[in-house]
Amino acid sequence: MKDFIFSNTTKVYFGKDHLQHLGEEVKQFGQKVLLVYGGGSIKRIGLYDKVMAELNKAGLTVYELPGVEPNPHHTTVNKGAALCKAEGIEVILAVGGGSTIDASKAMAATAKYDGDDCWDLVTGKGASNGHLPIVTVLTLAATGSEMDIGGVISNVELNEKQPLFGPNLRPNVSFLNPVNTYSVSAYQTASGSVDIMSHIFDVAYFSNFELMDMLLRVQEAVLSTVVKYAPIALAKPDDYEARANLMWASSWALNGFLYDGNMFAQPAICHNIEHELSAFYDITHGHGLAIVTPRWLRYILSEKTAPRIKRFGVNIMGIDEKLPLMEGASAAIDALEKLFFETLGLPSKLSDLGIDDKNFAVMAKKACGPEGQLNGMTLLKPEDIEEILKMCL
Ligand code: NZQ
Ligand code: ZN
Repeated sequence: MKDFIFSNTTKVYFGKDHLQHLGEEVKQFGQKVLLVYGGGSIKRIGLYDKVMAELNKAGLTVYELPGVEPNPHHTTVNKGAALCKAEGIEVILAVGGGSTIDASKAMAATAKYDGDDCWDLVTGKGASNGHLPIVTVLTLAATGSEMDIGGVISNVELNEKQPLFGPNLRPNVSFLNPVNTYSVSAYQTASGSVDIMSHIFDVAYFSNFELMDMLLRVQEAVLSTVVKYAPIALAKPDDYEARANLMWASSWALNGFLYDGNMFAQPAICHNIEHELSAFYDITHGHGLAIVTPRWLRYILSEKTAPRIKRFGVNIMGIDEKLPLMEGASAAIDALEKLFFETLGLPSKLSDLGIDDKNFAVMAKKACGPEGQLNGMTLLKPEDIEEILKMCL
């Protein structure tokens, strides 16, 4: 077990009745605020009006950057950062899902960068001289961006989607009201639920390092929570308990607590593969993960990997403990597929999304990054990733 340092500095307001604190929380960072949001869902659910009322009540000067795309574009980030510089914005308020929050994080860093292109920061070509403070109002349970140190930005000109990390990118304050997620579609609810599970799988649960037993048990508790409540939220979108459990699970899956300092101890295998799918085909992140994850598990299934996969099946998916090792692990993968593709109703194949194998070789190479391989529970080379992608067709 490794020594570790744990710190998560995001102040969270969780629950139905906290928005009256928004003005005071934003105002502590300055007078001029940039309100960032997506394609209009916050207006449709009445949240935009409520947020504006609080900001106006606090006497803040509000600038707006609407239109952040799912899989946010670097050009949109650059537009927001330019506005921050031109108007002397002091704080960014992101109201939306992971894409809006991620774009806001990149804007916050680019606003303090001497250059004008956030892609320099993503690729490491440049470094920012700090960042603007970030406040969020989350509207979709999925990414954990509301409490984590990362953001993911797409460059559609290059077919690239890359993360931007840094302790300063952690939001200062986040407002998590489960009611704001009642309107999330069944498709996004399902995709977001898969994303939550995948963060735990990818960063720690299906890994090659020993993890503190307490943390493994908490990971299983969070995974079980998603397996229980995602179907309830689908059946009854305004079930507060289900939405609350999914929302807090999304934050905890990636806020650092579950990983005892091993956050970057191995590459996030399915995320690396999925980010290539989103980069080339602009698909929904969680749906891509749902398609890739069971195929990846089946590809790496061996006597060595089976114990953890079977344990997942027994502890989370109700697989009979008495099954022999390989049979139990295989049944666990079957159960995961049933969850994603039947219970949550996500289409199961890349071909369902109009994706063929044309770009697989390039995507597989890119997914392996500069090291040319992904070293997790097993060592995967580009040819392995290509095989896994073919299993997804
Ligand atoms: O754009 P609007 O109109 O707001 O609509 C959005 C969007 O169409 C809609 N939506 C959000 N809240 C809603 C709602 N619709 C109705 N009611 C609401 N309350 O849902 C659609 C998807 O939104 P988006 O923000 O893209 O979804 P999500 O939260 O899943 O974010 C996905 C992005 O986050 C990245 C992904 O790669 C992807 O780009 N990730 C970020 C991570 C991080 N920061 O740590 C980690 C993740 O692994 C992930 O890579
Ligand atoms: Zn994810």
